[in-house]
Amino acid sequence: MVSPSSLLVLVVCSSLIFFVTEAQRPALVKGLSWSFYESSCPQLESIIRKRLEKQIKDDVGQAAGLLRLHFHDCFVLGCDSSVLLDGSAGGPSEQTAIPNLTLRKKSFKIIDDLRKRIHAECGQVVSCSDITAIAARDSVVLTGGPNYDVPLGRRDGLNFATEQATIDNLVAPFANTTTVLARLAVKGLDATDAVALSGAHTIGISHCTSFTDRLYPNQDPTMDNTLANNLKVSCPTADSNNTVNMDVRSPNVFDNKYYVDLMNRQGLFTSDQDLFTDERTRDIVTSFGKDQKLFFDKFVIGMIKMGQLNVLTGGQGEIRKRCDRRNKDKKVDIATVVEDLEETFSALF
Ligand code: HEM
Repeated sequence: MVSPSSLLVLVVCSSLIFFVTEAQRPALVKGLSWSFYESSCPQLESIIRKRLEKQIKDDVGQAAGLLRLHFHDCFVLGCDSSVLLDGSAGGPSEQTAIPNLTLRKKSFKIIDDLRKRIHAECGQVVSCSDITAIAARDSVVLTGGPNYDVPLGRRDGLNFATEQATIDNLVAPFANTTTVLARLAVKGLDATDAVALSGAHTIGISHCTSFTDRLYPNQDPTMDNTLANNLKVSCPTADSNNTVNMDVRSPNVFDNKYYVDLMNRQGLFTSDQDLFTDERTRDIVTSFGKDQKLFFDKFVIGMIKMGQLNVLTGGQGEIRKRCDRRNKDKKVDIATVVEDLEETFSALF
């Protein structure tokens, strides 16, 4: 178990070190920039970092929730905050698709709370998509992972995906490496990106139903026996509602132990463990398990690539006033009225 003080040292050290040099980092997509808010909202990143420092200190699990939220945003319609749109009024949609049902409700609240603070300081100039991307980066840093610059300038989308499109674009935990590689290749992500990004499972939790197919009715022979026995206690039935930590060695620290787990047949999902079984990805897993710096470098590259998928820029999309609805959907409710009044008062005084 890592003590809070050693985690703090890790965090401080990693905050000082940027893992990927400018020469190594992926090219910027047209319309994004490393310094997009330099004049319009120079305090943007410090507002987010300061707030998340507190929230992740109070509940480290929120870091995992925010990191996963950015992934689910980017893989479906691009990093445009489509996943944040409350589409429930319009029937089944992106938020109600099965993979998104296990996104943490609190993650959505944290993003909109950040949006509120940022818009109060800078005006309605920063997109929810950029806030989500920075929050994901900070979640990595604040749990001990690598620091990196986030390309900025994304605009928020005007549409959300159907349930089927959401399922088709994300990856199921039951997928093998062939499927994982194929799903990521469509997005321009290669095998190294696939293995590195899967390393996000070094933090966070999973519901039993995401992996009990590996326990019941028969135990997956690629799963370590001790892990299987422990998981059977945590998940006594295939449809148990319980949750477990994903990384058995250091569930709250962003490190390379996920790969050590895989090398010991202690990966949770088929999609994780098969990366070590499959010859195309096995050596990549081993190299990350042996060399944390290498993993961090490749993870940063993967995140910067993922964070630029199908982004809206320039005059496309909009800057949402609230992250959960399009500007034209503006509903008159107490929260919006209070916020509008607060804005008017702060503009006056
Ligand atoms: C490669 C394919 C991937 C599959 C099949 C997959 C699948 C899953 C599943 C099934 C869960 C648990 C959901 C639950 O039952 O509660 C999960 C959790 C998580 N995933 Fe992935 N994932 C993948 C890639 C990624 C990527 C690329 C990232 C981020 C870069 C990511 C970050 C996370 C995090 C941080 C959690 C924990 C969330 C929490 O504790 O709230 N995953 N993933």
